[in-house]
Amino acid sequence: MLQQTNMDKMSVCWCLFLGLLLLCRLSLSQECVRELQRNIDFTGSDISFVYSPDEEHCQKLCTQHPACQFFTFLRSDWANDNRNFYCYLKLSSSGQPDVKTPLLGVTSGFSLKGCSAEPRPYLSAVYHNVDFFGADYKTLITADYEECQRVCTQEPGCQFFTFVKADYTPPSIRYKCHLKFSWTIPVPPIVESATGVVSGFSTQPESIPLSDRQTPCQTKLFPGTDIPGDELWTLPAASPEQCHSLCSDHPACTYFTYNSSELSCYLKKNTDQMVLAARDGVTSGLPSRFCPLDNSWMKTPFEGIDFRGSDLRFIPLDNLQACQQNCNDDDYCLFFTYVNEYFHDSSHWRRCYLKRSVTLPAPPMVAKRVGVVSGFSLKSDA
Ligand SMILES: *[C@@H]1O[C@H](CO)[C@@H](O)[C@H](O)[C@H]1NC(C)=O
Repeated sequence: MLQQTNMDKMSVCWCLFLGLLLLCRLSLSQECVRELQRNIDFTGSDISFVYSPDEEHCQKLCTQHPACQFFTFLRSDWANDNRNFYCYLKLSSSGQPDVKTPLLGVTSGFSLKGCSAEPRPYLSAVYHNVDFFGADYKTLITADYEECQRVCTQEPGCQFFTFVKADYTPPSIRYKCHLKFSWTIPVPPIVESATGVVSGFSTQPESIPLSDRQTPCQTKLFPGTDIPGDELWTLPAASPEQCHSLCSDHPACTYFTYNSSELSCYLKKNTDQMVLAARDGVTSGLPSRFCPLDNSWMKTPFEGIDFRGSDLRFIPLDNLQACQQNCNDDDYCLFFTYVNEYFHDSSHWRRCYLKRSVTLPAPPMVAKRVGVVSGFSLKSDA
């Protein structure tokens, strides 16, 4: 909630004043500016930086980041230092960059939140002599990068890859195809228990990983059971069912344990054995593969849970149902928190916070490396 901008506050005042939701939405929407400004730096106003292979991808990251309004990307030809592939996400109270400075090797532009929503982005470029470092879940040997990309496209969990070419030094790792993963389902980064708030997910089809129109497969849960050890990844989660969907999305997750007092989901990797142990306060389970996930849990909001941060904006609304409906109707909202009782102070009461996380495939690190090729899966629903 710290990320709330002055502009949002002003707009919300207007909304209260006018009392019309339509005008509220109009006043909150940003302009649509698609053009990129090459060799122009939008100086300052940084929220954070993330790695990105090119300026279009950086623009998509800014569009999907809840607070980002504009960005500056340091291209591969940036020569002042080694911050190549840094994508600086930015925010200002006016929504515009305060300072624009000519600067070789950078590209700046705006979030596309104000534009009509695009279909799921398709990332077809491949990047020669660029390493998508980290996030590996599997390695194989392939004849060329095209084959590596085909495998990545076919494998459900693969989002991007790095292939080591035939002339790479040292020779021992030539032809290796590294398949890589990032979250493309909504993952609230902070899940906390809090009285007076209710949180939930958008139930728009696009935000749900797989169709719930087909008969979903059974979710296999072991209540009161721990599967100790073999941790692969720990994430906050609001329920064992959400933990199940995270495990099902991660290609290396073999089973999971959910701790309900910590609100933590432990994804685990052990393909050799699974030893169950009775334990109160935790639920374990197995992922579902190659069948529609049971997403019915997403429709029921979580009482007493705050998906803290990640705010797109807030709107005053009378009830939880209206809040959930607003999130469903919003092109960018993936999850929400509604304040249904006194919370911190009375000013938060009845606020509906619309929220989102980045679901675009994004390498955790991008670096120059001679002799490798990187790229994305060509899944149309990635
Ligand atoms: C769950 O988390 C709490 C808090 O960290 C911890 O004390 C408890 O031992 C955990 N429960 C299990 C069964 O791991």
